[in-house]
Amino acid sequence: MDFLRILGQQKLDGTIKISGAKNASLPLIAMSILAKNRITMKNVPHVADIKTLLKLLGNLGATYSFEDETIQIDASSIEKTTATYDIVKTMRASILVLGPLLARFGHCEVSLPGGCAIGQRPIDLHLKALELMGATIEIKAGYVKASAPQGLKGAHIIFDKITVTGTANVVMAAALAKGETQIVNAAKEPEVVQLCEVLQKSGVEIEGIGTAMLRIKGNGGELLHIDPFTIIPDRIEAGTYLCAGAITNSRLSISFADASHLESVIAKLEEMGCCFEITQYTITIVPTENLRPVRIVTQEYPGFPTDMQAQFVALATQANGVSVIEEKLFENRFMHVSELQRMGASITLNGNVATVTGKTKLSGADVMATDLRASSALVLAGLVAEGKTDVHRIYHLDRGYDNLEGKLQSVGAKIERLKE
Ligand code: EPZ
Repeated sequence: MDFLRILGQQKLDGTIKISGAKNASLPLIAMSILAKNRITMKNVPHVADIKTLLKLLGNLGATYSFEDETIQIDASSIEKTTATYDIVKTMRASILVLGPLLARFGHCEVSLPGGCAIGQRPIDLHLKALELMGATIEIKAGYVKASAPQGLKGAHIIFDKITVTGTANVVMAAALAKGETQIVNAAKEPEVVQLCEVLQKSGVEIEGIGTAMLRIKGNGGELLHIDPFTIIPDRIEAGTYLCAGAITNSRLSISFADASHLESVIAKLEEMGCCFEITQYTITIVPTENLRPVRIVTQEYPGFPTDMQAQFVALATQANGVSVIEEKLFENRFMHVSELQRMGASITLNGNVATVTGKTKLSGADVMATDLRASSALVLAGLVAEGKTDVHRIYHLDRGYDNLEGKLQSVGAKIERLKE
């Protein structure tokens, strides 16, 4: 297994290019199931989760290529409709094939994704919505067995909680359903917006894109012709590198990012005393020697993203004062805290609230990644810690960051990937 070795207290300087968004790519790859043509997706990040979903679609019969940052995928040849446990267990976002497979074939079996490190991750809202659209859903032997032999029909769906992949699943199912589907309390994340925009460009009538109320007029089951499109930048990768600039007190630029997707993250960094120079092509963080403490409550978009919570816990260890960070979306998303404490961080956890007292001098240590964003928080801590930090189990990191060590090396970080 690989691990990352970081020698801390190195200033950074230069520009990091942001890759395409993992969480936009995944639903758009699942969307290929609705296409009658081979579709081309540009600016796709080389991360493990993308390769996992491509493998799943390949197992169903799709053909694809993934060269440089471009995926070409032809799902018109799919003939199987069972997403098996061996793949789904490695990446719960595989549940994104449920809606498209059901809409196109009228039946499918998808392994229950199960929980993951950060929480139980139920899919009850996905299933309830599909039942409202006429599907029969049975849970048997760890699989969701869904069927809609007469096809899906439009329905009025109210999500009890905002769910990103739940919204994506229903939007894709609704595209081929008979009649109109309304989704109340829809997710507004940029990744969901892009999925809706690509479907709309492919002839699906969708209203309310980017709002909490979506109306999708289904075409009754006709496969779509989908033109090439380019994946939006990864706002969480971008936010992570802005935090790298802040935590090392380095002026750092990122390119190919979309500042409009980062408003709540930039606002919090400004609250902490950082400034920004934003042009059409770059976002530059101008750091401060004296970071101020911060109060954060994670929310659905456009609120502060839960996927940036771990990175800000690491950053808050360098702020002068007491920061309070509350995690509202997931029940177990503070596993980075114990690892940061081993590096000398002063953090107390009370339920889903982390209280971080800074400024503390962090010391390099052997630490263990537990989930995707916790991994990046440990890297950030390693960048500012005194001495050597070895981050183990970075297969978690490789799920969502494209060449993180290469990008950090390119701006001067002393970081390398080694074998255990
Ligand atoms: C997406 O996960 C992202 N993953 C996550 O990013 C992100 O943290 C999360 O949205 C929240 O923004 C992808 O897009 C692939 P949810 P998702 O359904 O869709 C509850 C990363 O780091 N819920 O929006 O699985 C759920 O338990 C990953 O890239 C139900 O109760 O999250 C949670 O409390 C981690 N029932 C809340 O809703 C359901 O049926 C939000 O979950 C579905 C969700």
